[in-house]
Amino acid sequence: QLTAAIQNFNFDHILLNAAGVMCQTKEELDTVLASNYTGAVVTKSATPALREGNPTPRYYEMAQNLGTINSMGLPNAGFDYYMDYVSQKQTDKPIFFSIAGLSKQDNLDMLRRLEASDFGGLIELNLSCPNVPGKPQTAYDFEATEAILTEAFAFFTKPLGVKLPPYFDIVHFDMIAAILNKFPLAFVNTINSIGNGLVIDPETDTVVIKPKAGFGGLGGTIVKATALANVRALRDRLRDDIKIIGTGGVTTGRDVYDHVLCGADLVEVGSQLAVEGIGVFERLETELAAILAEKGFTSLDQVRGQLKTI
Ligand code: DHB
Repeated sequence: QLTAAIQNFNFDHILLNAAGVMCQTKEELDTVLASNYTGAVVTKSATPALREGNPTPRYYEMAQNLGTINSMGLPNAGFDYYMDYVSQKQTDKPIFFSIAGLSKQDNLDMLRRLEASDFGGLIELNLSCPNVPGKPQTAYDFEATEAILTEAFAFFTKPLGVKLPPYFDIVHFDMIAAILNKFPLAFVNTINSIGNGLVIDPETDTVVIKPKAGFGGLGGTIVKATALANVRALRDRLRDDIKIIGTGGVTTGRDVYDHVLCGADLVEVGSQLAVEGIGVFERLETELAAILAEKGFTSLDQVRGQLKTI
């Protein structure tokens, strides 16, 4: 069975969209929910009020499907819009409500409203948006990360996880895991885009996106190895009851399989969903099923975390 669980939430499929892709409008959210190959949906990271985001062009696909660069700047319809969506929606699929306040206070205010609401899904606190000019990625500041989680868990009782940026140093894996293990987190989602890459158009010698002089978050094929390292390193270090959502560089069923080998419970698709559209989920699940069949596995439990070292 290609299924997974986080606390009391059961997922009939392990794939879903990555926050930011196909989830800004109710129609897009409905499209992800309606797929027969998604196990859940995550909403575009919300801020308290609607945001238009950064100037365009703000998203670009590299040649040969190497990956994408974006600096969207948190365009979203505002917290109330997504709260309205989740409270109207009748569905058996779990919904992840993503929030990305521009300050600790914004995040705590939104968490208070989620706590007080009748929302019965999971909440993803995004500590890793790289694209708002002047706003650092919170989870690169270990003190700030511990501070917001301390204040949040002083009142928050619903299933809460965090979306992390990629880390690139073993000491940083140790440090973030030690902090996260202090809290009753339901899950950790790794990775967000690799922040502040730079892509150049060789025809024109120009950057390819307008915001931040061309700097933006990288996704797709080129981030896969970094994503796998983060999934593996965190699975090794986090408490067993903190589930892992693996995100980054998934374009084939083999990529999904690799995330699971590293320890992912669920796997999200961002860039390739943007490139290919909603049909990506059927293709990936079919490719994953073929790999499992060929290897003689009948359950992802036989694969999850079973990466071999030499
Ligand atoms: C945006 C990008 C992110 O990687 C993120 O986590 C949140 C928002 C954005 O540019 O909209």
